[in-house]
Amino acid sequence: MAGPCVLVIFGVTGDLSRKKLMPAIYDLANRGLLPPGFGLVGFARRDWADQDFAKQVHDSVKENARTPFREEVWQQLLEGIRFVPGEFNDDNAFRTLKRTIQELDESRGTGGNHAFYLSIPPGFFDDVVGQLRRHGMAESNGRQWSRVVIEKPFGHDLESARELNQIVSTVFAPESVFRIDHYLGKETVQNLIAFRFANALYEPVWNNHYVSDVQITMAEDIGIEGRAGYYDGIGAARDVIQNHLLQLMALTAMEEPTSFDAAQLRTEKQKVLAAAKPPADIDVHTARGQYAAGWQGGEQVRGYLDEEGISPSSTTETYAAIRVDVDNRRWAGVPFYLRTAKRMPRRVTEIALNFKRALHLPFTHADTEGMGTNALVMRIQPDEGITMRFGAKVPSTQMEIREVSMNFNYGGSFTESSPEAYERLILDVLLGDPPLFPQHEEVELSWQILDPVLNHWEESGTQPEQYASGTWGPKCGVEMLARDGFVWRRP
Ligand code: BG6
Repeated sequence: MAGPCVLVIFGVTGDLSRKKLMPAIYDLANRGLLPPGFGLVGFARRDWADQDFAKQVHDSVKENARTPFREEVWQQLLEGIRFVPGEFNDDNAFRTLKRTIQELDESRGTGGNHAFYLSIPPGFFDDVVGQLRRHGMAESNGRQWSRVVIEKPFGHDLESARELNQIVSTVFAPESVFRIDHYLGKETVQNLIAFRFANALYEPVWNNHYVSDVQITMAEDIGIEGRAGYYDGIGAARDVIQNHLLQLMALTAMEEPTSFDAAQLRTEKQKVLAAAKPPADIDVHTARGQYAAGWQGGEQVRGYLDEEGISPSSTTETYAAIRVDVDNRRWAGVPFYLRTAKRMPRRVTEIALNFKRALHLPFTHADTEGMGTNALVMRIQPDEGITMRFGAKVPSTQMEIREVSMNFNYGGSFTESSPEAYERLILDVLLGDPPLFPQHEEVELSWQILDPVLNHWEESGTQPEQYASGTWGPKCGVEMLARDGFVWRRP
């Protein structure tokens, strides 16, 4: 359970806040993980009073919370809800914010502990952290803490990421900065650590002696859903590969940390990112695409260039795939393929390790034709679990071997549903528990992998290849793997 504190959210009228943050706060309260002395302050441009904000929180909880609505939990939360209207450069608004927090410190007994969540475009970080410093809200001392939470994108390339970090780190010490990569808050992602390091069975084959290639896929069936302003010019690689997928790769490839405290875990992830090289030949080892009109879930959907707010000549990619090689003893020679896209046939995120064929097969070619590739698949979402694919003898045949699956499903083994990533991450911020938050060094290393790709794509001045909505992406994506002798898994 978190100790008494105030959480201030900037950008509280945005999508993330309504769909994820507010419901997560309620779910934490409902699970008994928030203290009675908890205060929630919204800050935004909207000319709202406390009760308008409270209504927004209430509506988003009713709509999106994971756990059932309980009036007594809501009433307790409601007592600590405040709203401060204002612009980020308005000194008066920040004076009001400070008074509001002080009032909550008194009435809720928060002990002067405050977390500031910047759910705002990075262009405003400078204004907000500057205001927090000037108004004396950024200091931590032995008795009370002040933490800042920032959301991706952490810059749009290496240089801008450094600038952003400079802005934040002149005001907050590294241990007070919590960078959210919500993929690390997902149960199934944390299970990757348990699966690898709590069991004896898999680690011996988790290397280039046995693994032929690793495929990390994050496919979405949705389009850009009214987020043209954010997405256009950013694209799939910056939106997802730079953060979520490279983090998944780091957890998949890292060595066993000596413990799971933040420093050890981050060190192991960093070593992987430092050993990972950008694709040597970008034309050969990357692919990008843009969704065209097509069919999704029985409905006709429009193409990216026809989405509201998108320029008809936009070169932003909605499909991105890259090959990354991790140059170390464990992984040399094993390509890691990372791909993400919008408007694919279905929503699915998975990490698949494909295994090499046995060096000798005492069967005829015809016997093993249907055998496929041995694979171990960590199913991150939405169907959470782990699958093993291997060959089995088809009953009543002489010796025909066909590919079968063995499945572990969370739903079948555990009665409790997985908490939302934001529940875990918000709680960890309030507890001051940092292992699940990437450090600036990891962000830099990730941009170092991606920058050459993005620059090359931009300099090429070409349009990404179109793929019909509701399909598994452009031809160039298939060809990229075929050149290496592999095929994408159909999740
Ligand atoms: C966000 C991206 O980080 O992750 C979005 O900005 C994407 O474009 C979202 O839709 C997907 O998250 P999840 O948890 O639904 O896989």
